Amino acid sequence: MIIAIDGPAASGKGTLAKRLAAHYGLPHLDTGLLYRAVAKRLLDAGLPLDARDHAVAAATTLDVATLDEDALRGRPMGEAASIVAAFPDVRAALLAQQRSFAAQPAGAVLDGRDIGTVICPDAPVKLFVTASAEERARRRTLELVGRGEPADEAAILADIRRRDARDSGRATAPLLPAPDAVILDTTGLTIEEAFQAALQLVESRI
Ligand code: C5P
Repeated sequence: MIIAIDGPAASGKGTLAKRLAAHYGLPHLDTGLLYRAVAKRLLDAGLPLDARDHAVAAATTLDVATLDEDALRGRPMGEAASIVAAFPDVRAALLAQQRSFAAQPAGAVLDGRDIGTVICPDAPVKLFVTASAEERARRRTLELVGRGEPADEAAILADIRRRDARDSGRATAPLLPAPDAVILDTTGLTIEEAFQAALQLVESRI
């Protein structure tokens, strides 16, 4: 069983993907981490994010098994990831690894921006998780405050809008629901309510 989950930044798709993976005992890949890792390699090497050939080289040698989630989290790395993610060659270099992750015998849960449209177009279950930009900014702010980190809600909202525009506006694999995806708008839902709604959708498709 392959569950493909797409959606914009801070929509809650990662949380839902993790919970669905745990529920069904499936491996989970947060594909945003791949783009974040490519961006981090460039930044660590002191290279600009538009150093396309270096970005492609980094993507080609990336190993999904050794991604250091903690080092890749955070807003600046998400922003940097969306810049390298716009290069078609970078996306092409990351395609095989994502497809082979999805091809595990038991199945898998993958979340990102183009799982239902490009990576796993034949997935039987496709969810497009969304929420208003204001709600996503509010959630992100609460999450940071909860961790005792500084949070400027207006700056976070501006960041979310910029990233939405970049991810939706790019020519290759733009952020878009697959024609056969079920849209789950989590605005106004708690995490538990969103999970129950997702579970119902999955159950109706398997
Ligand atoms: O999901 P996350 O915020 O970690 O993703 C970071 C960036 O990586 C996104 O803004 C997007 O530009 C890019 N991305 C992508 N395709 C995916 C996953 C992430 O283009 N499947």
